[in-house]
Amino acid sequence: MIENHERAGEILKEVREEVVKMIKPGTRMLEVAEFVEGRIIELGAQPAFPCNISLNEDAAHCTPSKNDQRVFREGDLVKIDMGAHIEGYIADTAITVDLGDHVELVECAETALEKAIEIIEPGISTSEIGETIEKIAREFGFKPVYNLTGHGFMPYLAHAPPTIYNYRTERGVKIEEGMVFAIEPFITGGAGRVSERSETEIYSVISSKPVRMKMAREILSEVEKYRTLPFAKRWLSNPREIIISKLVREGVLRAYPVLTEIKKEPVSQAEHTVIVEEDGARIIT
Ligand code: CO
Repeated sequence: MIENHERAGEILKEVREEVVKMIKPGTRMLEVAEFVEGRIIELGAQPAFPCNISLNEDAAHCTPSKNDQRVFREGDLVKIDMGAHIEGYIADTAITVDLGDHVELVECAETALEKAIEIIEPGISTSEIGETIEKIAREFGFKPVYNLTGHGFMPYLAHAPPTIYNYRTERGVKIEEGMVFAIEPFITGGAGRVSERSETEIYSVISSKPVRMKMAREILSEVEKYRTLPFAKRWLSNPREIIISKLVREGVLRAYPVLTEIKKEPVSQAEHTVIVEEDGARIIT
């Protein structure tokens, strides 16, 4: 189990280092997403979710659509969030690439992540991770995004307990040796909250109840291989909007709408997956 997490992490580390060099004005976002997902497979894992490419005030859950023509532009704050799994054992990492003048925002997210990882040891509360992240954010003059969190993993489940809040909380749990989780501070000069936009490109299967419509059954049989992991609409051979919406309304699929900062202020993000060992946390991504 740990070996699979570790191998998924090593693969992501390599892909992250490669992809950073591609993030330049003029590069197509779709090209970058397909590169990340393709490289994960080439190196021997599977994507644990679609490559997220969220720009500026969009914090999470953005991924290009099938014929997406958008390119990165001068001034963009680009967050790349990627996941890989081997036999369901996941690693998850994210990095922010600044094509503008957001140096401090990026540095803040990276510092918060680094300091949070430094304090981890068996016996402390996950709340102390959040407390550290919030403290660093305030020191830089920013806020963490309060309603986005890090998370643990279960086989084929990208978001499982423990929830790693980006602030001090009464809901912390005790950290134990052997735990594997992702820490992901999101930092902003805005309100520190995100809300959903109408746009959705990412879904997952949440119920196996039978559906009658042939086209709906076709979609479900196509995404069966992802089990409970999120998939992109562009991964479908025939992504029919009407059918997908119907499956969401019937509670068969879960939609992950784009999450955007409510004051429309830019958001940075840094993320690593760690394994808790006797003497501290070891980064596997
Ligand atoms: Co994550």
